[in-house]
Amino acid sequence: MTDRMLKVGLLGCGNVGAAVVRLLHDHRDDIARRAGCRLEVAKVAVRDPARPRDVPLDPSAFTADAMEVVEDPDIDIVCELIGGCEPAGSLILAAFDRDKPVVTANKELLATRGRELLDASDAKGLDLYFEAAVGGGIPLIRPLKESLTGERLTRVLGIVNGTTNYILTRMSDEGMRFADALAEAQRLGYAEADPTADVDGHDAAAKCAILASIAFNARVVGGDVYREGISGVTTEDVEFARRLGYVVKLLAIAELHDQRIAARVHPAMIPAEHPLAAVRDAFNAVFVEGPNVGELMFYGRGAGGEPTATAVVGDVVTVARNLLAGARGVGCTCFHERTIRPMAEMDGQYYILLRVEDRPGVLAEIAGVFGRNQVSIKSVWQEGTGADAQLVFITHRAREGAFQQAVSELRAVKAVEEVRSILRVEAEE
Ligand SMILES: NC(=O)c1ccc[n+]([C@@H]2O[C@H](COP(=O)([O-])OP(=O)(O)OC[C@H]3O[C@@H](n4cnc5c(N)ncnc54)[C@H](OP(=O)(O)O)[C@@H]3O)[C@@H](O)[C@H]2O)c1
Repeated sequence: MTDRMLKVGLLGCGNVGAAVVRLLHDHRDDIARRAGCRLEVAKVAVRDPARPRDVPLDPSAFTADAMEVVEDPDIDIVCELIGGCEPAGSLILAAFDRDKPVVTANKELLATRGRELLDASDAKGLDLYFEAAVGGGIPLIRPLKESLTGERLTRVLGIVNGTTNYILTRMSDEGMRFADALAEAQRLGYAEADPTADVDGHDAAAKCAILASIAFNARVVGGDVYREGISGVTTEDVEFARRLGYVVKLLAIAELHDQRIAARVHPAMIPAEHPLAAVRDAFNAVFVEGPNVGELMFYGRGAGGEPTATAVVGDVVTVARNLLAGARGVGCTCFHERTIRPMAEMDGQYYILLRVEDRPGVLAEIAGVFGRNQVSIKSVWQEGTGADAQLVFITHRAREGAFQQAVSELRAVKAVEEVRSILRVEAEE
């Protein structure tokens, strides 16, 4: 057993940070064999150092001054687990300034300032590892960035937010309304008190940007990702989807089209037999496609302190090995400049639910609007009669811009009383 020692400085000791401390302690002998040195958590920055925490650390290890951790000359590796853009971003840059490699789980920061941080790590020849930033405990970044170097990926498609997947699962299984399923998710700890980042798709968009950047070797930021959340999904949509043989999921999709990147997050109907339809509750799954590997699927717990901490510890051990070897892992892989393909140019299928006047000729009028906009209808049926008359359409593949134009024209048709819902349909035609 080695008697060499590297010291880890933690920024944050919440859900993930505390689990990292416990794993590094509980598996210390095995970790030492793998890393080639012992790894000791020497200093931890938190907001409130006086708060009791369930971690095997002396209270003197805690400080409220995060810079104290970064500046401590004894700290070899900085592990940022605070979250958010600031002070996390400045602390990581300060760590590089002091020649310390960094491990982080911070998707929000990477999706907004990834270029700045990776440029700083490249400039210093230091590691910046972030396996836990996407998919929690599911190994995704390393497989995409390293194991699949020999592939030219064409598509990444996944369920990357456990909170929204839990809510949609409850809506499908129990016929719950969105607000009730959200309240249950909050009660069970799957959703934050302020659920906006999850429910509105910001969290999934940040992860989509990171996955797209790595899969297609070009920088994609959160703002490049088209985003719709799930708060508009109704029990009616979920029920229509079920009757048609679909399941509603919040999907993150990144594709390479003619060297341009299309990246989007939105709820979509997927066929009930698609493997992603079986991803339930708070689980995550990501499909990756390329001409040589075909389809790969990564599945597991996409969040939670313990699963996420395994990814962080894996990174810390790799960074420690690199430090001892005087080496560095793979740095930034955004070698290309690629433009973003606008959403209006996307081709897709759509589900649209309209409340309509119940009289002869209405269907023909609506079909005329779709036809004039080059949107061809795959199936249509009527629900209810009189004041409750509704028409449900599924289209063939159409240009997003053309479909949206058709929808805006439909809103002006007198016989269309309300456009109640629109969902994309992700299926092979
Ligand atoms: N939780 C998950 O399932 C999960 C999954 C994947 C990735 N992540 C990412 O992992 C990171 C950490 O998430 P988490 O769930 O562990 O968060 P958390 O439970 O809220 O913990 C945050 C920690 O940061 C400390 N902190 C906050 N502001 C600070 C400051 N200015 N200086 C020093 N310490 C500060 C807090 O101190 P106090 O304890 O004193 O409040 C707390 O210990 C985030 O980037 C998150 O996106 C989390």
